[in-house]
Amino acid sequence: MPENSHMPGETPGLSRKQFITAVGVGALAVPAVAGATANASSAPPGNELLACTPGRTTVAQTEGPYFKPNSPRRDDLTAGVSGVRLVVTGHVFDRACRPLDRVLMDFWQADAMGAYDNTGYRLRGHLYTGADGSYRLTTVVPGLYPGRTRHIHVKLQAPGQPRILTTQLYFPGEPRNSTDTIYDPSLLMNVRTVGSGREGTFDFVLDVAGTGTPSPTPTPTGEGGTWRAGAFYAAGAQVTYGGAAYRCLQAHTSAAGWEPPNVPALWQRV
Ligand SMILES: [Fe+2]
Repeated sequence: MPENSHMPGETPGLSRKQFITAVGVGALAVPAVAGATANASSAPPGNELLACTPGRTTVAQTEGPYFKPNSPRRDDLTAGVSGVRLVVTGHVFDRACRPLDRVLMDFWQADAMGAYDNTGYRLRGHLYTGADGSYRLTTVVPGLYPGRTRHIHVKLQAPGQPRILTTQLYFPGEPRNSTDTIYDPSLLMNVRTVGSGREGTFDFVLDVAGTGTPSPTPTPTGEGGTWRAGAFYAAGAQVTYGGAAYRCLQAHTSAAGWEPPNVPALWQRV
């Protein structure tokens, strides 16, 4: 269901009229850590920034029947809402992997009981990425409803860009991931348990050229030797962990909880 207007004018650089009809942005997604499941109690700050692969844009998905325009601007959706607290962080990049600032990100989701608020704006809100392309959303873990696995909806639009990416984020380890026909594993967040809450990460890549400064390509620091947290591993890097050898499948900066046996999306036993 395309929408032709959106968001009152509290935006840095976007008017509601500029938030125009969505079009699909195809291709492969960049997966922050597709398929990775981590359960560390904490992670070193800064390690949530994962590598972006130029040209691999985040896959589009249906917006479904529950989108509503004009959500409030807020990055915390938990006021008056019960459920397991979930903080989702990440970055938004252009297709050359440069961070995109002032990207509009409009989130909507079911509550812990699997219900959408279709009369008000509970668990709906939009925010903008910072100068480094980062975003942070505080919400609750959405509940299940018939026919779908657990998911969060989001629309993204870079300033001055006509195209909107509409997509969904998923949770690893959900039984319904294998039966939901909309589910796409490239849209899996990396999710870890922190205390009584959850922390999810996901990096988006929009199909826009962007104008920012290219992100420096990290110098691989973890090639060879024993796996350690806080190192940048390039695809193909080999490490040992627990006496076994592993090959890196996807470039990333490692974090506690992402030890090779825990994240088959990142590491393959060799
Ligand atoms: Fe939904």
